[in-house]
Amino acid sequence: MPRSWIAVATALASMSALADYPDKPVTIVVPFSAGGPTDKVARDLAEALRKPLGGTLIIDNVAGVGGTLGAAKVAKASPDGYTLLLHHIGLASATALYRSLPYKTLEDFEYLGMINEVPMTLIGRPTLPASNHAELAKWLEANKAGINLAHAGIGSASHLCGLMYQSAIKIDMTTVPYKGTAPAMNDLLGGQVDLMCDQTTNTTGQIEAGKVKAYAVMSPKRLTAPALAKVPTADESGLKGFNLSVWHGLYAPKGTPKAVVEKLNAALRSALKDADFHKRQEALGAVIIADARLAPAEHKKFVEAEIAKLTPVIKAAGQYAD
Ligand code: MLT
Repeated sequence: MPRSWIAVATALASMSALADYPDKPVTIVVPFSAGGPTDKVARDLAEALRKPLGGTLIIDNVAGVGGTLGAAKVAKASPDGYTLLLHHIGLASATALYRSLPYKTLEDFEYLGMINEVPMTLIGRPTLPASNHAELAKWLEANKAGINLAHAGIGSASHLCGLMYQSAIKIDMTTVPYKGTAPAMNDLLGGQVDLMCDQTTNTTGQIEAGKVKAYAVMSPKRLTAPALAKVPTADESGLKGFNLSVWHGLYAPKGTPKAVVEKLNAALRSALKDADFHKRQEALGAVIIADARLAPAEHKKFVEAEIAKLTPVIKAAGQYAD
């Protein structure tokens, strides 16, 4: 068969494959433990994607090493649109933190669009003898030899926030890594660790139930979600300029056909307009992305800028990295 016919046959085959895409379950890899904030965003988004994308969506929690194991799995997956990654600011902070990664952040992924931004909250174990940040600062100063700060692994959002907090108050803590802030939260509730900096998607319920001490929200203004409105901002607590919002995005392996990327981006845009998705996410303090970063090219540009922004922040805090 002449070469040009082969090219035509291949083109026709890929067009018909796209026309049926997805014709088998699409897996969304979440690089942290089930039940945590990243997992929560993924399950809410999968629910909202079902209608616009069609087919079945499966969540695969591939946790470990601050989210880099899950990211590496997707970077190496077949670029056919059936293995996606839902990740957050950790994709940028890990790039600045690790000397070498099993993937190239800006080369090994197709950027499918951004999802939301989630504020961070500084919370403490229920038995911690400090009911506001001023009292916490005094307690930390008096106990600085043995403070345990939980996070989801080097390069995670909770790790980054913990580094920035230690830098801001100039106290070096023992950092305790977990495969996600869901297991970390269990130990905080049980008093095994003292502090954690985690996303409101995971802390709102505990704060509302009075099960943890809420010291600050790392956002420029107080949050509007009822359970969070009474938590002072970092600025109000004397932590000047300490803003950290955890953005989430969707990714596919590099080389995923353009038409599949476009179909996934269109489905994502439609899912982000879903009323139930908005309601669930906003009740937990999340803000849905509705700007240019919904476009793959702008999404990628934003992540590139975040890597450049976070690198000096992480280097400055580097002395606290475990
Ligand atoms: C993190 O701290 O980076 C993650 O949000 C933790 C998680 O999703 O479990």
